[in-house]
Amino acid sequence: MKKIIISNFKMNTTPSEMKNYAMTLATKTKGSKNKIIICPPFTHFAVANQFFEGSKISLGAQNVSDAESGTYTGEISASMLKDSKVEYVIVGHSERRSRFKETDKLINKKIKTALANGLKVILCIGENLATREAKEAGNFVKKQLDDALKGIYENELESLIIAYEPIWAIGTGKTATIKDIQKMVELLRKEISYLYTDKAGEKINIVYGGSIDINNYKKIISLPCLNGALIGGASLNVDNFTVISKENY
Ligand code: PGA
Repeated sequence: MKKIIISNFKMNTTPSEMKNYAMTLATKTKGSKNKIIICPPFTHFAVANQFFEGSKISLGAQNVSDAESGTYTGEISASMLKDSKVEYVIVGHSERRSRFKETDKLINKKIKTALANGLKVILCIGENLATREAKEAGNFVKKQLDDALKGIYENELESLIIAYEPIWAIGTGKTATIKDIQKMVELLRKEISYLYTDKAGEKINIVYGGSIDINNYKKIISLPCLNGALIGGASLNVDNFTVISKENY
């Protein structure tokens, strides 16, 4: 089964290091059936493009402004990303929500701006440990999804990937259990069916992220209910990420 394998470098590596990474990945994943999306820092796009152009690997960004242009020192716009041959952008990552105080309302605006500029969106949602322990994870994640998708039309869902990333599993070495993932993916598909149509619920791409590594990736990504994975720490090792990207799921 074809899967979507997404890397999130976060604020790691330099453009010089990207050269070897991109060259190795592009060469070694040539025959892969999977959709591979690499989300490095903005400074890496030019060098990544040298190797990804003509390959099947897509480039993604880790953030985008909700504004089109103007007096937003330090921000990056959707049209800048598009012009840099970036195809995808991660919106709503828990690190942006917590460290940079991004709200559901802002995330909704960012999604609209990104889509309006022809970018595809990887929307991250997920609960923290306290919410899970209070048995509120389902309701919490449903609300994040509802708020993020306000005013988004069904035909735009083709350009959207939902990444379920429980905060307690990010960078902790402790993934969600298979049962947790299955339950949450089912709930998310139901919510999309409720908000749009049954067909939309079936078709929407949902990936899981949180402590996926070279030892556990196969059993998670192989899940028939899932369309793929978002991988942080483990994507920094190009050899491991190549293995995960090339796998026949
Ligand atoms: P991790 O990060 O794979 O290092 O847990 C995932 C993410 O934050 O996207």
